[in-house]
Amino acid sequence: MQSVFDFLHDNQARFIDELCEYVRFPSVSAQPQHRGDLQKCAEWLVQHCQGLGLESRLCPTKGHPIVIAKTPSHASNGTHRRHFLVYGHYDVQPPEPFELWHSPPFEPRIEGRSLFARGATDNKGQNLAHLKAVEAYLKTGTALPCDITFVIEGEEEVGSKSLAGFLKEHRAELKADAVVISDTGMPSLRHPALTYALRGIAAFEVTVHGPSRDLHSGIFGGTVDNPAMALCQILAQLRDKHGRVAIPGFYDDVQPLSSFERKELARLPFKEAGYRKFLGVPKLFGERGYTAIEQRSARPTLEINGLPSGYHGEGSKTIVPSWARAKLTTRLVPNQRPERIINLVRKHLKKLCPPTVRMEVVAGHGAAPYLVAPTSGRAQAALRALRAAFGCEPVLMREGGSIPIVNEFKKILHADSLMLGLALPDDNAHSPNEKFNLDCFAKGQAMSAHLWQELSRV
Ligand code: BES
Ligand code: MN
Repeated sequence: MQSVFDFLHDNQARFIDELCEYVRFPSVSAQPQHRGDLQKCAEWLVQHCQGLGLESRLCPTKGHPIVIAKTPSHASNGTHRRHFLVYGHYDVQPPEPFELWHSPPFEPRIEGRSLFARGATDNKGQNLAHLKAVEAYLKTGTALPCDITFVIEGEEEVGSKSLAGFLKEHRAELKADAVVISDTGMPSLRHPALTYALRGIAAFEVTVHGPSRDLHSGIFGGTVDNPAMALCQILAQLRDKHGRVAIPGFYDDVQPLSSFERKELARLPFKEAGYRKFLGVPKLFGERGYTAIEQRSARPTLEINGLPSGYHGEGSKTIVPSWARAKLTTRLVPNQRPERIINLVRKHLKKLCPPTVRMEVVAGHGAAPYLVAPTSGRAQAALRALRAAFGCEPVLMREGGSIPIVNEFKKILHADSLMLGLALPDDNAHSPNEKFNLDCFAKGQAMSAHLWQELSRV
């Protein structure tokens, strides 16, 4: 094993260059003009994996391709050889607004121990760390104690539409003992983390239509409803002043936090003043009766993600806009179900709509929340790998983000997901100036190298 760790140590500079190559692809899954870039990024990954000695292939889908890469197969000698999946995604969030980036999002820049680029932490740096660990085994001729299949998709940031079908089709090939995912966070370099729960999600677009075209607000204003105003009045009724979502039935299926869990979550490092300053808000806001850690990981929310309407250019334009739109998402916790929430939200929006405008509600992607008790033998093995690589005691946490496919891994492959996130809180995922910490990169590789030993013993 020492040769594996020596190999990792000796090759960090090259690994960083390779991560730079990887993040240069503008693989923005939400934007149709980048379709070709996703294809090229996937082809690069296949090539790269082949170079490491993995059996790799590109799998086209109706959406963006899936990359599969497997460790060379071993003739089984009668004993059950374990098989693990490593899941990651090579697609990234849109980089806009460009003007807030200190350097262009797809031209990686290294400053201190940070590599800045869209996709650096979410998720290219994190999945590359696992690839580098496996490379170290293969290139040093160190026997891997298990089989590993990498599943790296290009549609995570848009709801993983193609992957579920792919899992069904390749159920036999992908049958695994567990799924390892590094696509979450840790509180700090001194607090490596095993995440045992994710929030689910349901997305909507609600459009309010008014007059058939933008109108002169002086000539017509006062006689027709203003769709932007009507939409704002509707949206304003979706939460109360205590931070609760004001949609009838929304909380019906929410499982209350146990006092044990609340105690555990309270042990995570958190300083309110620092958090507030870091986010640049004058005061925190959240559902009354819950701590910030609980609010952002274990309580459901409803957010406005975008709100276009009317004139956005310089100066003023005196119109009654013809339409107004809001992009909304709800984050869900056990045992809320996205299908039910979609219906509740749709029904309530329609009820709030005045007769002076026409409303259209389109539901987008949805994913159920995920929770798996962190008490299994494999969870303990993962904690040992974290401890060994980071040199400090790992924490257990829930995360507020979503990884839609984890529920399908459970349903289709009957495999639990072990989430060992390498992102730091200030990595700016989905924000301008996204970065990945190069110590997280190196320690993540070591964690992965340890993990295969630990997991294969359980
Ligand atoms: N890596 C994130 C998920 C995440 C972030 C989990 C932080 C825990 C903590 C993932 O790439 C992501 O952003 N997922 C989307 C999914 C959605 C678009 C369906 C999300 O959570 O918004
Ligand atoms: Mn993301």
